[in-house]
Amino acid sequence: MARTGGVSPETPAARRECLPTLARAACHQRARNEKTTMTASRQTPAAGAAELARPTPSTPAASRLFDEARSAEIVIASIASATDPRLRQVLTSLVNHLHSFIKDVRLTEEEWANAIQFLTDTGQACTSTRQEFILLSDVLGASMLVDSLNNETGGIATESTVEGPFHLVVSPQRALGDNIANIDDGDPCLVTGTVTDDQGLPIPGARVDVWQADAHGFYDVQQSHLHPEGYLRGLFTADESGRFWFRTIVPRYYPIPGDGPVGRLLQATGRHPNRPAHIHFEVSSPGRRTLTTHLFVADSPYLYSDTVFAVKSSLIHEFPQVDDPVQAREVGLPNPFRTVDFAVTLRAADDTD
Ligand SMILES: [Fe+2]
Repeated sequence: MARTGGVSPETPAARRECLPTLARAACHQRARNEKTTMTASRQTPAAGAAELARPTPSTPAASRLFDEARSAEIVIASIASATDPRLRQVLTSLVNHLHSFIKDVRLTEEEWANAIQFLTDTGQACTSTRQEFILLSDVLGASMLVDSLNNETGGIATESTVEGPFHLVVSPQRALGDNIANIDDGDPCLVTGTVTDDQGLPIPGARVDVWQADAHGFYDVQQSHLHPEGYLRGLFTADESGRFWFRTIVPRYYPIPGDGPVGRLLQATGRHPNRPAHIHFEVSSPGRRTLTTHLFVADSPYLYSDTVFAVKSSLIHEFPQVDDPVQAREVGLPNPFRTVDFAVTLRAADDTD
């Protein structure tokens, strides 16, 4: 209803005219109501709701805000509803360790940026024939630790070691006794071996995949201009007695690629980049655990300082020389030649001891 002069009781003027009546208290209440109404009308409904929901330091919601002391706990809470329990377990542990590490060394912003750049460089160094991330994992000992945790021998099986970054091409099928090398470019060598189960029984038809560096320490993929693909690689099938054999040359020790970020890391930490001489093996058969391992040459340098920590004493083998023209002729190698015999034992696939 309109009042004198058209002044509304809802205006400041009207509020002043209320005095000094007993209606003063009611007038003040109207003014408070008016203020509340005007404030609410200036806000969107959502903003108003957010304002009302803003947590105070004592509310559960506030506990989700970042806090240095509880940083890992806060991040872990954000993944609590991950449906894959293994993913949740792995990420929880990763976040715990990562935050502890950052706090332990009090990582600076510059160091954090350098680490991001290092990982970026590592990714960008990867190609179809070079795996810089595997190299990084190798030189940090992570590859060997994962391998050891997942390939226990049960005291019987042949010990495993890392696959390394050079098993990148499918090895060509070879017949037993084939020559996989240029015999004139190194010490000729006859490799023989057997594949048996944990009872000592032969495993006929076992697949024996081998790959190695040459006598100068290079893999075929590093010198594709010199060698055809598949050079110093072979996929053999064991005979009915589980035996395999092939001709090759004795590999030389070699440095891992040093022209990338992993090389820079080794240099910065005063480490040499070399791996002792070895032949890679991957041996498999249905119903058996696939074995990935190396055969290390006993007289090689760097056996006890392998830059990827892959040497196990049971995998170090002598490569004795044979100086016998008759034998050399029989095996199809120049005299003298070297030999090595590798007895491989595979565990049953379901053996978990
Ligand atoms: Fe290798």
